[in-house]
Amino acid sequence: MNKRIAVIGAGPSGLAQLRAFQSSAGKGADIPELVCFEKQSDWGGLWNYTWRTGLDEHGEPVHCSMYRYLWSNGPKECLEFADYTFDEHFGRPMGSYPPREVLFDYIKGRVEKAGVRQYIRFNTPVRGVVYDDASGQFLVTVHSFDEDRTYTEAFDWVVVASGHFSVPNVPEFPGFSHFGGRVLHAHDFRDALEFKDKDVLIVGASYSAEDIGSQCYKYGARSITSCYRTNAMGYDWPTNWEEKPNMTHVEGKRVFFQDDSSKEIDAIILCTGYLHHFPYIEERLRLKTNNRLWPLNLYKGIFWEKNPKLMYIGMQDQWYSFNMFDAQAWYARDVVLGRIALPDYDSMHVEDLRWREEELKLQTAQEMYEYQGEYIRQLIEATDYPTFDIAAVNQTFLEWKHDKAEDIMGYRNKCYRSVMTGTMAIPHHTPWLEALDDSLETYLSPGPVARRA
Ligand SMILES: Cc1cc2nc3c(=O)[nH]c(=O)nc-3n(C[C@H](O)[C@H](O)[C@H](O)COP(=O)(O)OP(=O)(O)OC[C@H]3O[C@@H](n4cnc5c(N)ncnc54)[C@H](O)[C@@H]3O)c2cc1C
Ligand SMILES: NC(=O)c1ccc[n+]([C@@H]2O[C@H](COP(=O)([O-])OP(=O)(O)OC[C@H]3O[C@@H](n4cnc5c(N)ncnc54)[C@H](OP(=O)(O)O)[C@@H]3O)[C@@H](O)[C@H]2O)c1
Repeated sequence: MNKRIAVIGAGPSGLAQLRAFQSSAGKGADIPELVCFEKQSDWGGLWNYTWRTGLDEHGEPVHCSMYRYLWSNGPKECLEFADYTFDEHFGRPMGSYPPREVLFDYIKGRVEKAGVRQYIRFNTPVRGVVYDDASGQFLVTVHSFDEDRTYTEAFDWVVVASGHFSVPNVPEFPGFSHFGGRVLHAHDFRDALEFKDKDVLIVGASYSAEDIGSQCYKYGARSITSCYRTNAMGYDWPTNWEEKPNMTHVEGKRVFFQDDSSKEIDAIILCTGYLHHFPYIEERLRLKTNNRLWPLNLYKGIFWEKNPKLMYIGMQDQWYSFNMFDAQAWYARDVVLGRIALPDYDSMHVEDLRWREEELKLQTAQEMYEYQGEYIRQLIEATDYPTFDIAAVNQTFLEWKHDKAEDIMGYRNKCYRSVMTGTMAIPHHTPWLEALDDSLETYLSPGPVARRA
């Protein structure tokens, strides 16, 4: 095939796209030339941890939003690749909530086996994507840090897989500029030990708030106060953690809340979410959305309807993650390979609006992951991605929700069964709250490993 496709980003979504094409090529299909541009020096996206915050060694905004001691916040059985199981990678059962380094190892294992690293140009941020109406191709402008050179190449298709949990949404509250402590966003949070013996305020009520607050608790913060804009998280928190309605302002080190209470605080951590931010994509091609289950203008949640040669992977809010990216990548691949035909613009948009209409009716968490599960089921049905039991994964999500509600500091000790292999997870050797060492070595060892101080 004398065609070219650009994949932007080598995180789980971009890697899913490379793996999808490689899998077809392995079965004898004629695939386009693959070029993946990745601004970091390694693959894995958010799972590729760095201590850096702010700008990286090239003056580029740091992509990483992960932090030390991060463990999966959902059961690994819900994100498992259908074509590369945990059993295949680790060769033995393990806990259901592995730490970041363990999941990073798993992500790498599949793509190392597939041999797709050769397609990736590392240290190469994409600076521009424009569509050239005359040639019917995309002009992709990138900067190679290795060569210190900016260049442009033409592609027949572009897959945007640059993620949407990296550019922080940073609200400001009156008094911030004179706050007597530290204000940071979750994106710049790296090590909970920094907050040992401190009084910490967490702003926000979603996953980052819950997890960063829990990290601070686990690593010895004196107190945690969390505040919410819409709904409280409502878990049965430890005694030194209280939830309050949103903050109103700050005076010195004292933070004031909507219920007229106030508290002296050492550090404010804004767990206030992220922006879908694609400054490198020209206006008429750029996805604009908040973080939700059905961003508009993407047919099948993938194809930019006004120009479906442009595809977006992983842009939805994520109950499902890795296997959803796979489902999307396999479908995108089959459209590129001409195995699936796209309908006209009007038909695509009508279907898109139907999904949005359904999304707006969703009330409960269960309805939400079932909605996303059904979306994935439909995608998988259309391709040769190994089918798996979505209803059983939904059931695992349900158990997970119950386990969290029962014990927010203990749910990570629970075990679930893989729907891919039937393997039952086994408890990690150390309860999560006591497992201060999250290294791959310690996680995979039979018991805690003595480490140098
Ligand atoms: C703190 C945190 C914890 C999380 N924990 C979990 C979890 O426990 N379980 C789970 O399933 N999900 C979790 N997630 C969700 C996460 O979004 C997915 O797991 C996954 O990383 C998304 O993959 P992605 O490839 O779409 O995006 P990313 O992982 O963000 O990867 C995008 C890639 O694109 C590259 N890139 C960006 N811009 C450019 C550019 N202009 N040019 C070239 N390359 C570019 C980046 O460097 C990066 O490598 C977490 C997210 C966060 C923020
Ligand atoms: N593995 C892990 O343990 C882990 C840890 C952290 C994050 N994650 C993942 O990271 C992703 C992002 O999660 P996230 O929690 O960062 O983002 P998010 O789910 O988009 O939530 C953003 C939160 O910020 C709040 N918010 C926004 N603006 C605010 C303001 N002005 N004042 C007060 N609150 C405000 C929102 O409140 P409203 O409800 O009012 O909108 C919401 O609670 C998720 O996929 C999550 O699973 C995983």
